Amino acid sequence: MGFSETQEELVLRSWRAMKKDSESIALKVFFRIFEIAPGAKQMFSFLRDSGDVPLENHPKLKSHAVTVFVLACESATQLRKTGDVKVREATLKRLRATHANAGVADAHFEVVKTALLDTIRDAVPEMWSPEMRGAWEEAYDQLAAAIKEEMKKAA
Ligand code: HEM
Repeated sequence: MGFSETQEELVLRSWRAMKKDSESIALKVFFRIFEIAPGAKQMFSFLRDSGDVPLENHPKLKSHAVTVFVLACESATQLRKTGDVKVREATLKRLRATHANAGVADAHFEVVKTALLDTIRDAVPEMWSPEMRGAWEEAYDQLAAAIKEEMKKAA
């Protein structure tokens, strides 16, 4: 089943609405990730080394979540246009290295997905629908699949 223009629009519309608050939304994604999987904190070098600095003061946390959102939006557009997700080669190689080195496993991608979906639902409750959820899931799953595939090559 293809990815429709309507699905792309659901993803892009909700991201447009969230973008102005991207910092706080990005933080929520992380709080949710660490709620579901407290052990994941150990994988982030800048958290490991940071002593007692509060989570919300870590610029790198924000940029991680924003990148996931932005790449998922790009995936939505690619899926609608070509039915396939192709992450730029250079980006993909870097993502493979970072995530493989950090010890990210398949199950973590599910955790991040749940955190992402919960955060979107709470950020734009008036827009949220099963269709919107499905569109984000598909865009994220295809992006995650591309990264996981690349990580397997490295293993
Ligand atoms: C680093 C994107 C999923 C954990 C990064 C970086 C990006 C990124 C752009 C910055 C470094 C680089 O460019 O290589 C993504 C995307 C994901 C995803 C697009 C899913 C579609 C995950 C998952 C985990 C994770 C599931 C595990 C919970 C990490 C860690 C780092 C990292 C630990 C290194 C942070 C550090 O120590 O500096 N990711 N990521 N990522 N990501 Fe992800």
